[in-house]
Amino acid sequence: MTRVALVTGGTRGIGAAISKALKLAGYNVAASYAGNDDAASKFKSETGIPVFKWDVASFEACGEGIRKVEVDLGPIEVLVNNAGITRDTAFHKMTLEQWSAVINTNLGSLFNMTRHVIEGMRARKFGRIVNISSINGQKGQFGQVNYSAAKAGDIGFTKALALENAKTGITVNAICPGYINTEMVQAVPKDVVEKSILPMIPVNRLGEPEEIARGVVFLASDDAGFVTGSTLTINGGQYLV
Ligand code: CAA
Repeated sequence: MTRVALVTGGTRGIGAAISKALKLAGYNVAASYAGNDDAASKFKSETGIPVFKWDVASFEACGEGIRKVEVDLGPIEVLVNNAGITRDTAFHKMTLEQWSAVINTNLGSLFNMTRHVIEGMRARKFGRIVNISSINGQKGQFGQVNYSAAKAGDIGFTKALALENAKTGITVNAICPGYINTEMVQAVPKDVVEKSILPMIPVNRLGEPEEIARGVVFLASDDAGFVTGSTLTINGGQYLV
């Protein structure tokens, strides 16, 4: 039986690698995205994976988007909450807009998405939810009070939801990527990457998106049924938990 998987932010960066890896593993994959139409249509034509546009910060938009995916592909059995943004700045310069955008997109989205699929997963007694958190939710990061707060929240969400659904065949896990070679890290000033980030990574390089995707494929698999409430740290040894 082909399972249906939905990856938010699934057309670029880590999300694109996750979408492709799940497709290769035999899932029927849908990828959502928020704004970059060009990247999404390129991704769709290269991979054949259908794309759906909505803002994961909106509860209503998530409900509508999920209904469309389910009409086209069938009930969602694997949900990967990957979509995320940064608005880096020191807290004493941070605006309410920078705070709210990151909290709503990186943490609010877990409620907005998962609430719409959880009842179906409970009724069918199967589900896999994988939340993409971050090393910076584990350790904190200068310039990311908003992002670190949201990503730490993602871990708490994961643990509590895992407990509530442990008897229903649903697993809920988080992955904490370290610094991965994507546009998000490329947006960090070059001197900051070279002087403050790379020297802190024992493996001595950025991670690749596919190295996160392989973790998602494992957590989504039937073989991972005993793994729930866990946090999989994939960061090249930068922060050990
Ligand atoms: N640790 C300690 N002090 C720091 C610092 C750091 N990491 N970064 C800057 N500072 C200090 C500076 O030395 C400076 O001190 P002085 O005033 O004494 O000279 C002071 O803070 C202000 O520095 P700036 O003028 O550079 O401050 P800014 O507000 O313009 O920029 C910043 C600061 C936005 C945090 C910038 O340094 C930055 O972008 N840092 C990278 C943040 C980061 O790692 N983001 C991760 C993005 S990738 C991602 O999020 C994916 C993931 O999950 C891992």
